[in-house]
Parts: sequence; structure tokens; C-alpha cells
Amino acid sequence: MINKLPNKPRRLRAHLEQHLHILDTLPFAILQISKKYKVVWANLAANELLQMDPVSQTVDEVFSNDVLYDAVEACYTEGEEFRFEFEWGQQPKLSILATITPMHKTSAQRGRMIMTLQDLTTQRQTEQVRADFVANVSHELRTPLSTLVGFIETLQGPARGDAEAAVKFLGIMADEAARMSRLVEDLLSLSSIEMNASILPSGAVDIERLLLTVSESLSNRAERADQSIDQEIHGPLLVRGDSDELTQVFWNLIENAIKYGRTGQTVNLRASAISKGSEIRVDVIDQGEGIDEQHLSRLTERFYRVDKGRSRKMGGTGLGLAIVKHIVARHRGRLSIASVPDKGSTFSVVLPAFRG
Ligand SMILES: Nc1ncnc2c1ncn2[C@@H]1O[C@H](COP(=O)(O)OP(=O)(O)OP(=O)(O)O)[C@@H](O)[C@H]1O
Ligand SMILES: [Mg+2]
Repeated sequence: MINKLPNKPRRLRAHLEQHLHILDTLPFAILQISKKYKVVWANLAANELLQMDPVSQTVDEVFSNDVLYDAVEACYTEGEEFRFEFEWGQQPKLSILATITPMHKTSAQRGRMIMTLQDLTTQRQTEQVRADFVANVSHELRTPLSTLVGFIETLQGPARGDAEAAVKFLGIMADEAARMSRLVEDLLSLSSIEMNASILPSGAVDIERLLLTVSESLSNRAERADQSIDQEIHGPLLVRGDSDELTQVFWNLIENAIKYGRTGQTVNLRASAISKGSEIRVDVIDQGEGIDEQHLSRLTERFYRVDKGRSRKMGGTGLGLAIVKHIVARHRGRLSIASVPDKGSTFSVVLPAFRG
């Protein structure tokens, strides 16, 4: 017993350090608040969230937030737990779930409080993106659907028996139905790419052949717009990837180059090996209207279009570049966009080369 006594404080300290270490490994911030509303202890996550060491400062000095201050005050005076979400900081504004709990429930012991803070910013942003996405999909589907319903009603009512009107309206209805099915196809395509996002494609794709096939299938479209497609490919170029998905990437980019290009222009495709052969770079270059800088960072968002009316008129769903972005990401590649308004745009895709 006597022998063990000197060990006790050391054991106790080790025990305490172990517990403090555990608190430092927790993913949410924990702060201990004194009855004078001063932070007396904070774990590592608190320092990271607040980007400073809050110890010795008052709650007001650390947060300058009335809602939080009032909750600390109420917790102290009422001896009850408070749990609420608040927004804090500027750029980026954080959504934080705070819980303030008295350390001791009885009023005689009342004093210190424990504040935990959980950063819900990413979760809230994801929820917002999902909500926006559902709203966008519904809107995009409703537009052609209401056109269809409108023409069905016309054909059943005022235009009943009018053969000429029937031919015209059925043509429009077929276009609208085609738009709806394209939208559903694109959505399914996006969701299947997302589902496989973590699986790296492992096949070998001959990018020269792929670009030739895609440009051949789009050549009629280019001709109709009085455009041509020119290729400068320094092959052979083998990319590690999925042939169907990469076809979708270059189909979308070349189609955009034609759609948003100018009459008489040449769409240039350039492909070569870079980074000592470890990567393949493909540039799709047009001499079209270009894209204003303010739009560049948002271009790959689902349904984002510089000119919504125009894109829709051309039968676009606004999902093309979102699909491109997701496929390139799944291939562990990079997509970059450079554009000069009125001069044209270059969409560059860098993909890992296939190596045996
Ligand atoms: N080469 C380009 N030049 C100018 N603007 C472009 C170009 N490529 C894309 N954009 C702009 O980016 C927007 C988004 O392109 P995206 O391919 O995602 O959709 P879309 O072409 O409108 O429809 P979809 O590809 O689904 O048929 C387009 O609406 C257009 O405003
Ligand atoms: Mg497109």
C-alpha cells in the first residue's frame, strides 16, 4: 500500500492526460465555460473550428453572437440544457449546432457549463443542393409536360378533326416528348456515374479512335451549321478509362463547340501526351461566342446555362457539362475551361494514361 502511494498522482495524471487526449480526438468542438462566461478549456476541434485558442476569452469576445450569449446566460440562470442551430462567421458562413449544458444540475453547485459545437455547414449545403436539384428537375419536366397537355387538350377540343393542325401539333408534341426522354436519360446517366464514382475505370481506350468516331457522328451537325471539325492528334494515345463514358465526355464537348460556335468556324481537337507520358490532354477549341468570366465557375453545375431560353430552344437539358465533370472526376482526371468572350472557348480534359 505504502509502496503504491507515490505512483498514484502519476497514474492519475496519466489517466487525466488519456481523457484529455480522447476529448481532443472528438470531431466536434467542446468548450468549458466559467460562471463569468469565460472559456476555461477547449479541445483541439474547438481551436480548429474557431481558428484560434479561445481559452481565457469571454463567450462574447469569441463569438460576438447575441443568440449564443443569451443561451449561455439562460443555461447559467435556469440550469437547463439549450440546443439550437445558429449561423456564425463571414465567408464562409458556418451553420453550427450548439448544445450548452450545465456541468452540475443542482443550483448549489451551479456554475460551469459545457458547450459543444457541431459544424453542420457541409450537411446543410448538401441538403440545399438536393432541394435545388429536385426543384430544378420538377421545373424542367413540367415545362415540356405542360406543352404536351396543352396540345392534347387542343386536339381533343377546338382542333378536333383538323388534320393540318394535328400534323403540326403532333410534331411539336414529339419534340417535347423527346426532350423529356433526353432529360430522364441524362438524369439516369448522372446518377449511375455518381453511384460508381469511387470505382476507377480500368480499361484501355484509344483516344484517337474515340475522337475520330465522335467527330464523325457529329460531322453532319457541323456541316448543317456550316462548320468543320479539324483534328491534330499526336498518337497513339491510350487512356485508362471507360470507352462509353469518355465518348459521352467528348460528344458533349464537341456538340457544345458546334452549338455555341459560329457559322463558318472550325472546331479544333488537339490531343497529346503530357507529364512525361503519364497523362493525356485533349483540347476542344471553338471560335464561338465565348463565355463571360462570371459564368465559368458555375458552368458545370446541373442545369446551369448562360442563356436558358437559347439552350432550351436548341433542345439542351443543361446537364451536359455536369455529366462531363462527373465522368472526368471518376477517371481521376481534370477539366478546365478557358474562354475569351467573342473569341471562343477551350475545354481541356486531362486523363491518366493507360500503362500496361
Ligand atoms: N463551347 C461553348 N461556348 C459557349 N458557351 C458554352 C460552351 N459550352 C457550354 N456553354 C454554356 O454552358 C452551358 C451549359 O452547357 P451544358 O453542355 O451543360 O448544357 P447545354 O448544352 O445547354 O445542354 P445539353 O448539353 O444538356 O444538351 C450552356 O447552356 C452554354 O450556355
Ligand atoms: Mg451541352
